[in-house]
Amino acid sequence: MTAVGSISEIGYTSMLTRDLGASMKNAADMFGLVETDSNSKKAFFTAQNKHHEVVYVKSDRDGLDHIGLVVPNSAELAAVRAKVDEGGYPIVSENPIEDYIDEGFAFVGPEGYTWQIYTEKLSYSMLKRGTLTADRLGHVNIQVVDAPAQVRFMQYVFNMNLSDAIGNVHFFLRCNTDHHGIAVFTGDSVKMHHHAWQAGNIMDLARLGDRLARKGARLAWGPVRHGAGDNIAVYYVEPNGVVTEYYCDMETIRDPDRAARHFEPDDLWWINQWDGQVPPGILDWGVAPVGR
Ligand SMILES: [Fe+2]
Repeated sequence: MTAVGSISEIGYTSMLTRDLGASMKNAADMFGLVETDSNSKKAFFTAQNKHHEVVYVKSDRDGLDHIGLVVPNSAELAAVRAKVDEGGYPIVSENPIEDYIDEGFAFVGPEGYTWQIYTEKLSYSMLKRGTLTADRLGHVNIQVVDAPAQVRFMQYVFNMNLSDAIGNVHFFLRCNTDHHGIAVFTGDSVKMHHHAWQAGNIMDLARLGDRLARKGARLAWGPVRHGAGDNIAVYYVEPNGVVTEYYCDMETIRDPDRAARHFEPDDLWWINQWDGQVPPGILDWGVAPVGR
């Protein structure tokens, strides 16, 4: 995919879990990801031919450790680094804070989110590694108290583009041709609500629903077709309390100058084209950034 700013893709999330075994079992058996490495404290999973798109770390609490964003080359890495310095954001490390990354730095942005910015040296194809799994990690949805400020930060430091705005409340930003790589929602607490994985078509979503049902679990929402992004999606809740989205059919934006669309928050078409419904409590889930 072609980057439209400094970031070329959403790389991975690194999450803390109180039950590493349950999180690993969920990733492998429920969701069908491929384990690329693990030990007694940490496990790496991916859907495609790259090392990791999600990392689970054993801890005494559930939470979000950090989010990894890929830059296409060392020049863009330096460009982001310069803006981080300019903004005065605290540097966590001059080196990668996650394993299997050669080049990058980490810093803490607004509202306590830690970001690992890195180059992806390994070449890879979109070839699926597993038989049940998603194609790739596509986006994350984070909740913040001051969403407009978070959006200004992402537009300036990450050079991301605004695709859709829901009033002055929720925002969808893109870093490549995907309608959104990071969604920023206003909430009364700070947390990553979900990480979202692209599937081939709606039958893959149905197969996930079937697989969960066979194992005694349930989807939390969907299938639903969103208005902002146009994606068809299903959601379920993982053992550590984060929500996983599995989606297909997202809007592709090839025009770098495509103007942001604006929707009214009260018209729930933006979140559910088909019936305008949102299940009670679905937005209450998520994992809070643990800070550095
Ligand atoms: Fe999403």
